[in-house]
Amino acid sequence: MTDLVLAIAHHLLVFALAAILAFELALVRPGLAGADLKRLGMIDLHYGLVAGLILAVGFARVFLGVKGPDAYLGNWVFWAKIAAFLVVGVLSVQPTIRIAGWRRAAKAEPGFALSTEQAASVRGFIVAELAIFALIPALAAAMARGYGL
Ligand code: HEM
Repeated sequence: MTDLVLAIAHHLLVFALAAILAFELALVRPGLAGADLKRLGMIDLHYGLVAGLILAVGFARVFLGVKGPDAYLGNWVFWAKIAAFLVVGVLSVQPTIRIAGWRRAAKAEPGFALSTEQAASVRGFIVAELAIFALIPALAAAMARGYGL
């Protein structure tokens, strides 16, 4: 039962993170301002929350799941999956810093709107995050079937 609940939570959180990234990519465009910029800040906060929960639930699956930690901890595909997830996390740092800066600028200057350069600088990071994120389910499927042991 624990294994099932953790598996369901894991999938839902992973879909939530994919949705967050897609939503951020849709919002970060030249001209972004006002309420939408505020929304972007809120979504970005949730990114950190959901990523933290994925880590917690993922490691709960390792230690409390039916297969037990030996099925994962010595598996290089498992570690490749964790590394890919960490790379996505590292790539998310710059967007978070820039988004916080834009929100500060919008508070100081009511007419603030994103320039083409500002939007492009963050969109590149989000596209890279999505590309690496897309590799993770492939690694997960291989690892779940014992590849890498
Ligand atoms: C970094 C923290 C993570 C940890 C520790 C973790 C751990 C796990 C574990 C233990 C399983 C069970 C595999 C099995 O049935 O033997 C699993 C399955 C899975 N994980 Fe993760 N995971 C993490 C992040 C992610 C992320 C970010 C994604 C998606 C982008 C993801 C996608 C999946 C999928 C699709 C499965 C099901 C694989 C299958 O049964 O074919 N995981 N994960």
